[in-house]
Amino acid sequence: MTSITQTSQDEIFQTMSMSSPASMYIIQDGRFVFANHRFLDRIGLTEDELLNTDQYDLIHPEDSEMVRQNAIEMLKGIRTTPYEYRAYNKAGEMMWVAETVTSIQYQGRRAVLGSALNITEQKKAEETLKAQKELIDNILATIPDAVLVVGRDSNVILANTAFYDAFGMNKREVEGRPVSEIILAPHLLKSLLKILLDQEPQINLEFKQELKGNAKTLVVSMMKMGEKGALLILDNVTEERQKQERLFLTDRLSSIGEMSAGVAHELNNPLTGIVSLSQLLLESNPPEDLREDITDIHNEAQRAASIVKNLLTFSRKHAPVRESIQLNRIIEDVLLLRAYEHKVNNIKVATHLAPDLPEVVVDYHQMQQVFLNIVLNAESAMAEVKNPGSLIVTTRRLNGLVTVSFSDDGPGIPQENLHRVFDPFFTTKEVGKGTGLGLSICYGIVTQHGGKIYAKNNAGKGATFIVELPVDSQ
Ligand SMILES: Nc1ncnc2c1ncn2[C@@H]1O[C@H](COP(=O)(O)OP(=O)(O)O)[C@@H](O)[C@H]1O
Ligand SMILES: [Mg+2]
Repeated sequence: MTSITQTSQDEIFQTMSMSSPASMYIIQDGRFVFANHRFLDRIGLTEDELLNTDQYDLIHPEDSEMVRQNAIEMLKGIRTTPYEYRAYNKAGEMMWVAETVTSIQYQGRRAVLGSALNITEQKKAEETLKAQKELIDNILATIPDAVLVVGRDSNVILANTAFYDAFGMNKREVEGRPVSEIILAPHLLKSLLKILLDQEPQINLEFKQELKGNAKTLVVSMMKMGEKGALLILDNVTEERQKQERLFLTDRLSSIGEMSAGVAHELNNPLTGIVSLSQLLLESNPPEDLREDITDIHNEAQRAASIVKNLLTFSRKHAPVRESIQLNRIIEDVLLLRAYEHKVNNIKVATHLAPDLPEVVVDYHQMQQVFLNIVLNAESAMAEVKNPGSLIVTTRRLNGLVTVSFSDDGPGIPQENLHRVFDPFFTTKEVGKGTGLGLSICYGIVTQHGGKIYAKNNAGKGATFIVELPVDSQ
């Protein structure tokens, strides 16, 4: 190899610095002593102007200390990768550069050779990408539905917060795992495959899966997502389905009600016959040994007839008839209906019924049902706390309203449930004991009468239910 003379070394350096895509400069004794045309172009200075410029004037003040440190580390050989910083040109425009520095000999003395690439465009692209990713993350985090993205290889690419919450799983158990480990419904996986294989653009279906130990019903909407895979949006419809099932049940219950009304009706006539014939027999002075038996027949038939009559009153659909009535009367009837139970269950009932209570226009049977439901609830609430109970019923006239209140000394109602108790199917009773329909029926009836019904807790213990009806209701 021929030795390279100083002149040809300079030539090589000149050529390289001219053709390099990097902006290059040399600094000696803290001053610029050389710059290639890219460097001059980038900062928009002439060679003469550059000679009188401090290099740190070209660097963003927040970055200059970092640049100084990194340059020192590089010159010591500690740092090997380029460092990035914000630089300015003469016009004050900012750009991102990635720079490396090397220690060299320049004209026989120590100098620093800097070489920098303008990475502004790349930085911008990176930032846009980062912003887009953040936006997507934010959207995914705020969407209330569970979202799952599945790649063409059937592995999960990502899931959102709602998904992790609903499925009770974490990122590690989901991301990158086969979707068949996460969603266990075979028919869903088969349909998903169709979407991934481009046979269908979108499929919606319902499936059941146990989530966090509870059986859930979910609706999934699956669609093709470009070439990347498929997007799954999952909606928990467990409560809706349960409500539908219960509605179906109440439908059935009401048809059972109708059927028993029919049966009661059929039994009513023969029973009336037995009651009146046995009565006639008794009046015809039968022999003493028969008399006892006939009396038994008469009494038992009468008992059966009264059961049937009760059944009829409760299951018959009355066409609503509104008449002018004093509510005190309905309340007394309801309390009489429950008097026996109150006695055996040690419930003391006190009434404060305003004697001059104005009449209201209501349907007797419907209002009876409202007050009966409230009283029955109070009974079971008081039974819960086991002490002898106390029920206080008060009627009042209050600014064009008639108010009825029922105060019990049961456990009261948790604050958060005071409104919910009127929701259909809201019940705290065990399965088979409560339907959660009582108060929602009351609510419906009272509002139909232009009134209000609400509950509050007593200062001491127990709850009070209040019904307000307008005096001029029609
Ligand atoms: N007097 C009361 N004291 C405490 N809780 C009550 C009272 N009345 C009603 N509730 C609550 O309201 C719920 C709904 O009542 P309701 O609609 O009649 O349905 P159900 O009696 O079938 O549960 C009850 O389950 C109970 O939790
Ligand atoms: Mg009830």
